[in-house]
Amino acid sequence: MHTTIPLKVHYYGTPVVLVSSTNPDGSTNLAPMSSAWWLGQEAMLGLGASSRTTQNLLSTKQCVLNLAPSSLVDHVDRLALLTGTPEMSEHKRATGYRYEPRKFEAAGLTPQPSDLVRPDRVLECPIQLECRVTGHLPIDTESTSARAIHVTVLRAHVDSSVRMLGTNYVDPLAWDPLIMKFCDFFGSGEALIPSRLAAGWRMPGRLEQAS
Ligand SMILES: Cc1cc2nc3c(=O)[nH]c(=O)nc-3n(C[C@H](O)[C@H](O)[C@H](O)COP(=O)(O)O)c2cc1C
Repeated sequence: MHTTIPLKVHYYGTPVVLVSSTNPDGSTNLAPMSSAWWLGQEAMLGLGASSRTTQNLLSTKQCVLNLAPSSLVDHVDRLALLTGTPEMSEHKRATGYRYEPRKFEAAGLTPQPSDLVRPDRVLECPIQLECRVTGHLPIDTESTSARAIHVTVLRAHVDSSVRMLGTNYVDPLAWDPLIMKFCDFFGSGEALIPSRLAAGWRMPGRLEQAS
């Protein structure tokens, strides 16, 4: 039997993308996100309007989308409550965010120079997509201030471990994406670790409470 309830969150399970972007001082910012969908060589990213990443993407028109495998869950979680901007909303501060200008070090990840765009790639991510920002739309409602950012893939770097050798395809059996489902982390369909984001959002029934 179905019942109608005012669902608080609609994060049904999407791959985690680490977005590299260029800060005003030229350094690379790195932020986890998962509101991304793909069509051909195009992708749409749903990003909060005030995040450093959004500001960087709209001003520099470049980014790298680093697809995180489930094995990087601890590294991604270390980034969860960090922001590359010192000016953060009261809501973000109350959620437990802190300013961190050196995200690669904080996450224990390795920067790798890109070919066509300025921000660095994440060496540990087996799929890295150099992109240009093609356009953006506002998403402004009573509860949300975000941007739908359209990016176009310029160059894809794919590690041989996840490639179908001899083809231009990723091997779906070899590629194990880190999935964010209702603010908790999953890989190969299995629950991984409790996420700091879920703790910050005070999500009910999250993994920590279940264990
Ligand atoms: C797994 C995960 C997924 C996230 N997905 C999104 C997302 O899709 N869109 C978004 O705006 N923020 C998302 N966030 C929150 C951002 O990472 C957060 O706003 C962060 O402050 C962005 O960093 P920045 O301010 O340095 O850009 C996610 C966080 C985590 C840990």
